Amino acid sequence: GTGKLFVGGNWKMNCSKKQAEEVIGFLKSGKLSDNAEIVVSPPAPYLEYVKARLPANVGIAAQNCYKEEKGAFTGEISPAMIKDVGAEWVILGHSERRAIFHEDDALIGQKVKHALSAGLKVIACIGETLQEREANKTEEVVFRQMKAIGDNISDWDKVVVAYEPVWAIGTGKTATPEQAQEVHVKLRAFIKSNFQKDVRIIYGGSVTGKNAKELASQRDVDGFLVGGASLKQEFVDIINARQ
Ligand code: G3H
Repeated sequence: GTGKLFVGGNWKMNCSKKQAEEVIGFLKSGKLSDNAEIVVSPPAPYLEYVKARLPANVGIAAQNCYKEEKGAFTGEISPAMIKDVGAEWVILGHSERRAIFHEDDALIGQKVKHALSAGLKVIACIGETLQEREANKTEEVVFRQMKAIGDNISDWDKVVVAYEPVWAIGTGKTATPEQAQEVHVKLRAFIKSNFQKDVRIIYGGSVTGKNAKELASQRDVDGFLVGGASLKQEFVDIINARQ
């Protein structure tokens, strides 16, 4: 792509006030490209703390939410609460939510629908496992996951799709730029033909300061969802991968 690079930093379950200040520190001192839309995603207890300290041009995302506004759902947080503390985004459908917390396509679809209706923007994650890739099921899996999400999208301008092959997450095994491009272009065509929409499609899975430039140069890669490297100084290099 050539437009603004969307760069999300998913901190996962890693944070303390001290660590948040470190990350905020390098976001403040680094020169951040104007050609990037930046969103960081701290754990829920730190959303407001981080929001209050970040440069104004950096957005905030929650890492998950429930499909209801309020009520007897111990341990859950709602889109209304996320908005209330100043965050505008939520990550939904992350592979860790799917695998560890058994979230299925139907639940993720309901969450996407509710989050959008509550006024949040959504980073919607999809991606195949290594086993699925090796069985030549990559397309089948990502199309199925995309359909379940797409059927629940009311406003595609408020959504960014993150393609995150599970085998590349936290493994240091990045998809090659060609592998990412191949899936992104197919996804874009799938979304066009099923929903008549265009959407930003970002890549996630072991993105680093070193490999970001080449990935960002792929035609259908509109940005990144970064895990491990989003807590390090190199996050600034990833943000600046498309100057
Ligand atoms: O949401 C981010 C992805 O799970 C990627 O994580 O950059 O640590 O591989 P990673």
